[in-house]
Amino acid sequence: MIPVMNVQRQYASLQDELDKAALEVLHSGGYILGSKVSDFENAFAKYCGAKYAVGVGNGTDALVMALLACGIGAGDEVITTAMTFVSTAEAIAQVGARPVFVDIDPVTYTMDPKKLENAFTKKTKAVIPVHIYGQAADMDAICEIAHERGAYVIEDCAQAAGARYKSYRTCTLGDIACVSFFPTKNLGAAGDAGIVVTNNEDLYKGVLAYRVHGSGINGAYTYARLHGQADSFDENKIDFHGNLPKYYNYLVGFNSRLDALQAALLSVKLPHLDSWNEKRRQIAAIYDEKIDNDLFVKPTVAPYNEHIFYVYPLKIKGDRSKFRAYMEEKGIATGVYFPVPMHLQACFSDLGYKAGDFPVAEDLAEHGVTIPMFPELTDEEINAVVEAMNSYKG
Ligand SMILES: Cc1ncc(COP(=O)(O)O)c(C=O)c1O
Repeated sequence: MIPVMNVQRQYASLQDELDKAALEVLHSGGYILGSKVSDFENAFAKYCGAKYAVGVGNGTDALVMALLACGIGAGDEVITTAMTFVSTAEAIAQVGARPVFVDIDPVTYTMDPKKLENAFTKKTKAVIPVHIYGQAADMDAICEIAHERGAYVIEDCAQAAGARYKSYRTCTLGDIACVSFFPTKNLGAAGDAGIVVTNNEDLYKGVLAYRVHGSGINGAYTYARLHGQADSFDENKIDFHGNLPKYYNYLVGFNSRLDALQAALLSVKLPHLDSWNEKRRQIAAIYDEKIDNDLFVKPTVAPYNEHIFYVYPLKIKGDRSKFRAYMEEKGIATGVYFPVPMHLQACFSDLGYKAGDFPVAEDLAEHGVTIPMFPELTDEEINAVVEAMNSYKG
């Protein structure tokens, strides 16, 4: 079977270095935070062209803590796209705010800025565009609308590590950004892992505090900031009575740190991310050129974007299940990202949305399908996929 994604081949290609890095951490006894984590944070911030990065437990926690650092909670609204993985909307609900959905652009599948303005209310505190499938949302348009209305822009970069928008890397386009290093992502750990990236020192300190139970000086400062007392805050006046600052908690936070082990592995992989993404683009170019079958709508890259093809998102005209069964018979796996748009998920039924509210997202949920896409695909496998696609008759 040719898989949709595969993590073992990438591990095999770097096995010696990855094993060495993992063993080094095991032997060191330094498992929580420390230099392995800060080295990776610095390297990832530099890679993005951002000032700060905070390694966290996973991409979902990254979103939750970014929202909290922005001071978002009960009574607030946060706008996101109807077509994303549930984490984006779940994080909004987890902080007590209300997720508000907008439809996607029919060409790029990212948040449609034309639909954004109408979704704003007095309660809107943030917008979370999702760089879905590896292509950035139209960030200039989104940031202009959001910032004019005093809302934060939180990038969901879970599917787009290393992608560029108008030559800038994702993670530097809004106020704060969240990345997932789930193993199958373009930059994947050997388990759950994530990072928050920002140029905003206040938001940086906020996430630093939230990932360690809201404790210490960053917790005290963030508490003061979120209560309008940042100007009078003086860290020299905090008295920890000779005890560890981590035992003084100012915010109700989390235990959500990037593991030293994951950081060490990610540090080995990061220098390869650009070449892996380039390989994905090359495979996409072959699919673009060689797939010749009117039953499929191929993905479109906006002229200002450098796509990194986390997946190769197609739309099929006709019966998706029949196509997937046909591919399976040919020994080729396919995927669906995602079959249920957010406004129709059972967990959000109390928000009052109904079928028909976001037709573009609904159409993609019904007709979207992905084919194998990862840098280590062989030429034979790519050809087999193309051949199967071209001989499909519907
Ligand atoms: C768009 C999007 N947002 C958020 C996440 C959450 O990341 P994680 O699985 O690391 O919590 C994912 C990935 O799973 C995702 O695809």
